[in-house]
Amino acid sequence: MNEDIYLLAVESSCDETAAAVVKNGREVLSNVIYSQIALHREYGGVVPEIASRKHIEKINQVIRQALEDASMELPQITGIAVTYGPGLVGALLVGVSAAKAVSFATGKPLIGVHHIEGHICANYIENKELEPPFICLVASGGHSHLVNVLGYGDYRIIGRTRDDAAGEAFDKVARAIGLGYPGGPKIDKLAREGNPDAIYFPRAKVAGAEYDFSFSGLKSAVLNYLNACRMKGEEVNTADVAASFQRAVVDVLVAHSIEAVKTYGCKKFAIAGGVASNSSLREAFRRACEKEGIAFYHPSPIFCTDNAAMIGTAAYYEYQKGVRHGYGLNAVPNLQLGQ
Ligand code: KG4
Ligand code: ZN
Repeated sequence: MNEDIYLLAVESSCDETAAAVVKNGREVLSNVIYSQIALHREYGGVVPEIASRKHIEKINQVIRQALEDASMELPQITGIAVTYGPGLVGALLVGVSAAKAVSFATGKPLIGVHHIEGHICANYIENKELEPPFICLVASGGHSHLVNVLGYGDYRIIGRTRDDAAGEAFDKVARAIGLGYPGGPKIDKLAREGNPDAIYFPRAKVAGAEYDFSFSGLKSAVLNYLNACRMKGEEVNTADVAASFQRAVVDVLVAHSIEAVKTYGCKKFAIAGGVASNSSLREAFRRACEKEGIAFYHPSPIFCTDNAAMIGTAAYYEYQKGVRHGYGLNAVPNLQLGQ
Protein backbone atom coordinates (compact mmCIF):
# COMPACT_ATOMS: atom_id res chain seq x y z
CA MET A 1 0.00 0.00 0.00
CA ASN A 2 1.30 3.44 -0.88
CA GLU A 3 1.79 5.80 2.02
CA ASP A 4 -0.07 9.11 2.07
CA ILE A 5 2.06 12.16 1.24
CA TYR A 6 1.51 15.26 3.37
CA LEU A 7 3.30 18.40 2.21
CA LEU A 8 3.61 21.58 4.22
CA ALA A 9 3.78 24.38 1.64
CA VAL A 10 4.99 27.97 2.02
CA GLU A 11 4.41 30.93 -0.33
CA SER A 12 5.83 34.44 0.09
CA SER A 13 6.72 35.64 -3.41
CA CYS A 14 4.78 38.90 -3.34
CA ASP A 15 2.37 40.36 -0.78
CA GLU A 16 0.69 37.26 0.64
CA THR A 17 2.28 35.29 3.47
CA ALA A 18 0.78 31.84 3.07
CA ALA A 19 1.12 28.26 4.29
CA ALA A 20 -0.93 25.13 3.63
CA VAL A 21 -0.98 21.40 4.20
CA VAL A 22 -1.87 19.31 1.15
CA LYS A 23 -2.51 15.55 1.20
CA ASN A 24 -1.60 13.46 -1.86
CA GLY A 25 -1.45 16.52 -4.11
CA ARG A 26 -5.11 17.34 -4.40
CA GLU A 27 -6.62 17.38 -0.94
CA VAL A 28 -6.19 20.71 0.85
CA LEU A 29 -6.19 20.13 4.62
CA SER A 30 -5.46 23.78 5.45
CA ASN A 31 -4.88 26.98 3.52
CA VAL A 32 -3.80 30.00 5.56
CA ILE A 33 -3.28 33.33 3.79
CA TYR A 34 -2.19 36.52 5.47
CA SER A 35 -2.81 39.24 2.90
CA GLN A 36 -0.76 42.44 3.14
CA ILE A 37 -3.02 44.34 0.74
CA ALA A 38 -4.16 46.85 3.39
CA LEU A 39 -0.51 47.73 4.14
CA HIS A 40 0.39 48.46 0.52
CA ARG A 41 -2.84 50.19 -0.48
CA GLU A 42 -1.73 53.67 0.61
CA TYR A 43 1.27 53.41 -1.74
CA GLY A 44 -0.84 52.30 -4.71
CA GLY A 45 1.12 49.07 -5.15
CA VAL A 46 3.39 46.55 -3.44
CA VAL A 47 6.40 48.10 -1.68
CA PRO A 48 9.05 45.32 -1.70
CA GLU A 49 10.81 46.35 1.52
CA ILE A 50 7.54 46.52 3.46
CA ALA A 51 6.48 43.15 2.01
CA SER A 52 9.71 41.46 3.17
CA ARG A 53 9.46 42.88 6.66
CA LYS A 54 5.85 41.79 7.06
CA HIS A 55 6.63 38.30 5.76
CA ILE A 56 9.30 37.98 8.47
CA GLU A 57 6.78 39.01 11.11
CA LYS A 58 4.06 36.65 9.91
CA ILE A 59 5.71 33.57 8.46
CA ASN A 60 6.06 31.45 11.63
CA GLN A 61 2.55 32.31 12.74
CA VAL A 62 1.08 31.36 9.36
CA ILE A 63 3.01 28.05 9.25
CA ARG A 64 1.89 27.16 12.78
CA GLN A 65 -1.73 27.99 11.88
CA ALA A 66 -1.60 25.82 8.76
CA LEU A 67 -0.42 22.84 10.82
CA GLU A 68 -3.03 23.50 13.49
CA ASP A 69 -5.90 23.84 10.96
CA ALA A 70 -4.84 20.53 9.41
CA SER A 71 -4.63 18.96 12.91
CA MET A 72 -1.09 17.90 12.18
CA GLU A 73 2.31 18.21 13.76
CA LEU A 74 5.65 18.49 12.01
CA PRO A 75 6.69 14.84 12.54
CA GLN A 76 3.61 13.73 10.52
CA ILE A 77 4.57 15.85 7.52
CA THR A 78 6.31 14.12 4.59
CA GLY A 79 8.13 17.16 3.21
CA ILE A 80 8.34 20.96 2.98
CA ALA A 81 7.48 22.80 -0.25
CA VAL A 82 8.32 26.42 -0.94
CA THR A 83 8.08 28.94 -3.77
CA TYR A 84 11.64 29.93 -4.72
CA GLY A 85 10.83 32.11 -7.76
CA PRO A 86 9.88 34.15 -9.63
CA GLY A 87 8.92 37.07 -7.41
CA LEU A 88 10.38 39.79 -5.19
CA VAL A 89 13.77 38.59 -4.01
CA GLY A 90 13.45 39.83 -0.42
CA ALA A 91 9.94 38.41 -0.11
CA LEU A 92 10.92 35.03 -1.59
CA LEU A 93 13.94 34.80 0.73
CA VAL A 94 11.71 34.84 3.81
CA GLY A 95 9.70 31.80 2.70
CA VAL A 96 12.75 29.96 1.40
CA SER A 97 14.67 30.55 4.65
CA ALA A 98 11.72 29.47 6.80
CA ALA A 99 11.18 26.32 4.72
CA LYS A 100 14.88 25.47 4.86
CA ALA A 101 14.85 25.92 8.63
CA VAL A 102 11.85 23.59 9.04
CA SER A 103 13.43 21.07 6.70
CA PHE A 104 16.74 21.20 8.59
CA ALA A 105 15.11 20.94 11.99
CA THR A 106 12.88 18.00 11.04
CA GLY A 107 15.12 16.23 8.54
CA LYS A 108 12.22 16.23 6.04
CA PRO A 109 12.93 16.80 2.34
CA LEU A 110 12.72 20.27 0.81
CA ILE A 111 11.00 20.82 -2.55
CA GLY A 112 11.39 24.20 -4.29
CA VAL A 113 8.46 25.17 -6.51
CA HIS A 114 8.09 27.58 -9.44
CA HIS A 115 5.35 30.10 -8.61
CA ILE A 116 3.70 29.87 -12.05
CA GLU A 117 3.69 26.08 -11.86
CA GLY A 118 1.82 26.55 -8.59
CA HIS A 119 -0.79 28.73 -10.27
CA ILE A 120 -1.32 26.13 -13.01
CA CYS A 121 -1.59 23.30 -10.47
CA ALA A 122 -4.29 25.21 -8.54
CA ASN A 123 -6.61 23.71 -11.16
CA TYR A 124 -5.98 20.18 -9.84
CA ILE A 125 -7.36 20.99 -6.40
CA GLU A 126 -11.05 21.18 -7.29
CA ASN A 127 -10.98 19.37 -10.65
CA LYS A 128 -9.99 15.91 -9.48
CA GLU A 129 -10.34 14.46 -13.00
CA LEU A 130 -8.07 17.04 -14.68
CA GLU A 131 -4.82 15.62 -16.00
CA PRO A 132 -2.33 16.86 -18.59
CA PRO A 133 -2.15 17.49 -21.46
CA PHE A 134 -4.02 20.79 -21.48
CA ILE A 135 -3.37 24.44 -22.26
CA CYS A 136 -3.40 26.96 -19.43
CA LEU A 137 -3.58 30.74 -19.45
CA VAL A 138 -1.77 32.15 -16.42
CA ALA A 139 -2.77 35.78 -15.93
CA SER A 140 -1.62 37.48 -12.76
CA GLY A 141 -0.08 40.70 -11.52
CA GLY A 142 3.35 39.72 -12.75
CA HIS A 143 2.68 37.26 -15.59
CA SER A 144 0.57 36.59 -18.66
CA HIS A 145 1.63 33.23 -20.07
CA LEU A 146 -0.03 30.74 -22.36
CA VAL A 147 1.40 27.40 -21.33
CA ASN A 148 1.16 24.00 -22.98
CA VAL A 149 1.02 21.59 -20.04
CA LEU A 150 2.37 18.39 -21.62
CA GLY A 151 2.67 16.42 -18.41
CA TYR A 152 3.11 16.95 -14.67
CA GLY A 153 6.05 19.35 -14.38
CA ASP A 154 6.46 19.44 -18.18
CA TYR A 155 5.67 22.88 -19.57
CA ARG A 156 6.18 24.71 -22.86
CA ILE A 157 5.45 28.43 -22.98
CA ILE A 158 3.66 29.21 -26.22
CA GLY A 159 2.81 32.86 -25.56
CA ARG A 160 3.81 35.56 -23.11
CA THR A 161 3.37 39.27 -22.56
CA ARG A 162 5.81 41.59 -24.28
CA ASP A 163 5.32 44.34 -21.73
CA ASP A 164 2.75 44.69 -18.91
CA ALA A 165 1.08 41.64 -17.41
CA ALA A 166 -2.74 41.57 -17.57
CA GLY A 167 -3.10 42.16 -13.80
CA GLU A 168 -0.60 45.02 -13.97
CA ALA A 169 -2.78 46.68 -16.66
CA PHE A 170 -5.84 46.26 -14.40
CA ASP A 171 -3.95 47.81 -11.49
CA LYS A 172 -2.62 50.77 -13.53
CA VAL A 173 -5.96 51.58 -15.15
CA ALA A 174 -7.70 51.29 -11.76
CA ARG A 175 -5.26 53.80 -10.31
CA ALA A 176 -5.88 56.19 -13.22
CA ILE A 177 -9.64 56.16 -12.61
CA GLY A 178 -9.17 56.55 -8.87
CA LEU A 179 -10.09 53.04 -7.71
CA GLY A 180 -6.94 52.24 -5.72
CA TYR A 181 -4.98 49.02 -5.22
CA PRO A 182 -5.43 46.21 -6.14
CA GLY A 183 -7.30 47.29 -9.23
CA GLY A 184 -8.47 43.97 -10.65
CA PRO A 185 -11.33 43.20 -8.24
CA LYS A 186 -12.40 46.88 -8.23
CA ILE A 187 -12.57 47.14 -12.02
CA ASP A 188 -14.38 43.77 -12.11
CA LYS A 189 -17.07 45.19 -9.79
CA LEU A 190 -17.39 48.65 -11.33
CA ALA A 191 -17.48 47.23 -14.88
CA ARG A 192 -20.80 45.53 -14.08
CA GLU A 193 -22.39 49.01 -14.01
CA GLY A 194 -20.76 50.17 -17.25
CA ASN A 195 -21.22 49.65 -20.98
CA PRO A 196 -18.37 47.56 -22.46
CA ASP A 197 -19.09 48.97 -25.92
CA ALA A 198 -19.06 52.63 -24.81
CA ILE A 199 -15.40 53.28 -25.75
CA TYR A 200 -13.31 51.34 -28.24
CA PHE A 201 -9.86 50.48 -26.87
CA PRO A 202 -7.26 48.68 -29.05
CA ARG A 203 -6.76 44.89 -29.03
CA ALA A 204 -3.03 44.52 -29.65
CA LYS A 205 -1.47 41.78 -31.75
CA VAL A 206 2.26 41.08 -31.74
CA ALA A 207 3.59 40.70 -35.28
CA GLY A 208 5.08 37.26 -35.87
CA ALA A 209 4.05 35.93 -32.44
CA GLU A 210 0.33 35.26 -32.58
CA TYR A 211 0.05 33.97 -28.99
CA ASP A 212 2.00 36.78 -27.34
CA PHE A 213 0.25 39.60 -25.52
CA SER A 214 0.89 43.31 -25.21
CA PHE A 215 -1.10 45.43 -22.78
CA SER A 216 0.93 48.64 -22.51
CA GLY A 217 -0.68 50.15 -25.64
CA LEU A 218 -4.12 49.47 -24.18
CA LYS A 219 -3.11 51.07 -20.88
CA SER A 220 -1.81 54.14 -22.76
CA ALA A 221 -5.02 54.33 -24.81
CA VAL A 222 -7.04 54.47 -21.57
CA LEU A 223 -4.74 57.16 -20.12
CA ASN A 224 -4.98 59.18 -23.37
CA TYR A 225 -8.76 58.88 -23.32
CA LEU A 226 -8.89 60.16 -19.72
CA ASN A 227 -6.54 63.06 -20.55
CA ALA A 228 -8.56 64.02 -23.64
CA CYS A 229 -11.75 64.11 -21.55
CA ARG A 230 -10.06 66.29 -18.93
CA MET A 231 -8.73 68.72 -21.57
CA LYS A 232 -12.17 69.02 -23.12
CA GLY A 233 -13.75 69.44 -19.70
CA GLU A 234 -15.91 66.35 -20.27
CA GLU A 235 -16.98 64.23 -17.35
CA VAL A 236 -15.57 60.69 -17.37
CA ASN A 237 -17.95 57.80 -16.90
CA THR A 238 -15.56 55.55 -14.93
CA ALA A 239 -17.91 52.54 -15.10
CA ASP A 240 -17.87 52.74 -18.92
CA VAL A 241 -14.07 53.08 -18.92
CA ALA A 242 -13.74 50.06 -16.61
CA ALA A 243 -16.16 47.96 -18.67
CA SER A 244 -14.63 48.93 -22.03
CA PHE A 245 -11.06 48.37 -20.79
CA GLN A 246 -12.01 45.02 -19.27
CA ARG A 247 -13.73 43.96 -22.51
CA ALA A 248 -10.54 44.75 -24.48
CA VAL A 249 -8.38 42.64 -22.10
CA VAL A 250 -10.88 39.78 -22.09
CA ASP A 251 -11.24 39.80 -25.89
CA VAL A 252 -7.47 39.46 -26.38
CA LEU A 253 -6.97 36.81 -23.69
CA VAL A 254 -9.87 34.72 -25.02
CA ALA A 255 -8.99 35.10 -28.73
CA HIS A 256 -5.32 34.12 -28.28
CA SER A 257 -6.07 31.26 -25.90
CA ILE A 258 -8.82 29.66 -27.98
CA GLU A 259 -6.69 29.97 -31.13
CA ALA A 260 -3.83 28.19 -29.33
CA VAL A 261 -6.09 25.42 -28.01
CA LYS A 262 -7.44 24.80 -31.51
CA THR A 263 -4.04 24.93 -33.21
CA TYR A 264 -2.45 22.56 -30.67
CA GLY A 265 -5.40 20.19 -31.03
CA CYS A 266 -6.07 20.22 -27.31
CA LYS A 267 -9.53 19.51 -25.92
CA LYS A 268 -8.86 20.91 -22.44
CA PHE A 269 -8.22 24.47 -21.34
CA ALA A 270 -7.62 25.99 -17.90
CA ILE A 271 -7.07 29.45 -16.47
CA ALA A 272 -5.01 30.47 -13.45
CA GLY A 273 -3.59 33.47 -11.57
CA GLY A 274 -5.26 36.46 -9.93
CA VAL A 275 -6.89 37.73 -13.14
CA ALA A 276 -8.51 34.30 -13.61
CA SER A 277 -10.91 35.26 -10.82
CA ASN A 278 -12.33 38.02 -13.07
CA SER A 279 -16.05 37.31 -13.53
CA SER A 280 -16.25 38.64 -17.08
CA LEU A 281 -13.17 36.64 -18.16
CA ARG A 282 -14.56 33.43 -16.66
CA GLU A 283 -17.90 33.92 -18.38
CA ALA A 284 -16.28 34.72 -21.75
CA PHE A 285 -14.11 31.58 -21.54
CA ARG A 286 -17.06 29.46 -20.45
CA ARG A 287 -19.00 30.57 -23.54
CA ALA A 288 -16.08 30.31 -25.97
CA CYS A 289 -15.09 26.82 -24.74
CA GLU A 290 -18.69 25.61 -24.89
CA LYS A 291 -18.96 26.84 -28.48
CA GLU A 292 -15.73 25.08 -29.50
CA GLY A 293 -16.37 21.86 -27.56
CA ILE A 294 -13.41 22.45 -25.23
CA ALA A 295 -13.56 21.36 -21.57
CA PHE A 296 -12.98 24.46 -19.42
CA TYR A 297 -11.36 24.41 -15.97
CA HIS A 298 -10.79 27.17 -13.45
CA PRO A 299 -9.92 27.33 -9.75
CA SER A 300 -12.19 29.04 -7.19
CA PRO A 301 -11.10 32.67 -6.64
CA ILE A 302 -9.29 31.79 -3.38
CA PHE A 303 -7.00 29.43 -5.35
CA CYS A 304 -6.54 31.97 -8.21
CA THR A 305 -4.79 34.66 -6.19
CA ASP A 306 -1.57 33.76 -4.36
CA ASN A 307 -1.89 30.90 -1.90
CA ALA A 308 0.25 28.04 -0.60
CA ALA A 309 -2.17 25.18 -1.36
CA MET A 310 -1.30 25.48 -5.06
CA ILE A 311 2.40 25.25 -4.13
CA GLY A 312 1.72 22.05 -2.16
CA THR A 313 -0.09 20.58 -5.17
CA ALA A 314 2.71 21.45 -7.61
CA ALA A 315 5.29 20.13 -5.12
CA TYR A 316 3.50 16.78 -4.86
CA TYR A 317 4.11 16.04 -8.55
CA GLU A 318 7.72 17.24 -8.31
CA TYR A 319 8.19 15.07 -5.21
CA GLN A 320 6.80 12.03 -7.04
CA LYS A 321 9.34 12.63 -9.80
CA GLY A 322 12.14 12.60 -7.20
CA VAL A 323 12.81 16.34 -7.03
CA ARG A 324 14.57 17.28 -3.76
CA HIS A 325 16.39 20.54 -3.07
CA GLY A 326 19.29 20.92 -0.69
CA TYR A 327 19.87 23.61 1.92
CA GLY A 328 21.64 25.57 -0.81
CA LEU A 329 18.22 26.42 -2.32
CA ASN A 330 18.10 30.14 -3.00
CA ALA A 331 15.45 32.65 -4.06
CA VAL A 332 15.53 33.15 -7.85
CA PRO A 333 13.57 36.32 -8.69
CA ASN A 334 13.54 35.69 -12.47
CA LEU A 335 13.17 31.90 -12.43
CA GLN A 336 12.06 30.60 -15.86
CA LEU A 337 9.37 28.01 -16.50
CA GLY A 338 9.81 25.19 -19.05
CA GLN A 339 11.09 26.20 -22.48
O1 KG4 B 1 -1.79 35.78 -8.82
P1 KG4 B 1 -1.79 37.03 -8.02
O2 KG4 B 1 -2.44 37.01 -6.68
O3 KG4 B 1 -0.34 37.55 -7.80
C1 KG4 B 1 0.70 37.45 -8.73
O4 KG4 B 1 1.31 36.35 -8.83
O5 KG4 B 1 0.91 38.46 -9.44
O6 KG4 B 1 -2.45 38.15 -8.96
C2 KG4 B 1 -2.69 39.45 -8.51
C3 KG4 B 1 -3.25 40.23 -9.66
C4 KG4 B 1 -3.42 41.72 -9.37
O7 KG4 B 1 -2.89 42.45 -10.46
C5 KG4 B 1 -4.92 41.90 -9.27
O8 KG4 B 1 -5.35 43.18 -9.65
C6 KG4 B 1 -5.42 40.84 -10.22
O9 KG4 B 1 -4.55 39.74 -10.01
N1 KG4 B 1 -6.80 40.43 -9.92
C7 KG4 B 1 -7.84 40.63 -10.78
C8 KG4 B 1 -9.01 40.19 -10.10
N2 KG4 B 1 -8.64 39.75 -8.85
C9 KG4 B 1 -7.29 39.90 -8.77
N3 KG4 B 1 -7.86 41.13 -12.02
C10 KG4 B 1 -9.06 41.20 -12.62
N4 KG4 B 1 -10.22 40.84 -12.04
C11 KG4 B 1 -10.24 40.33 -10.78
N5 KG4 B 1 -11.41 39.96 -10.22
ZN1 ZN C 1 0.85 34.69 -8.25
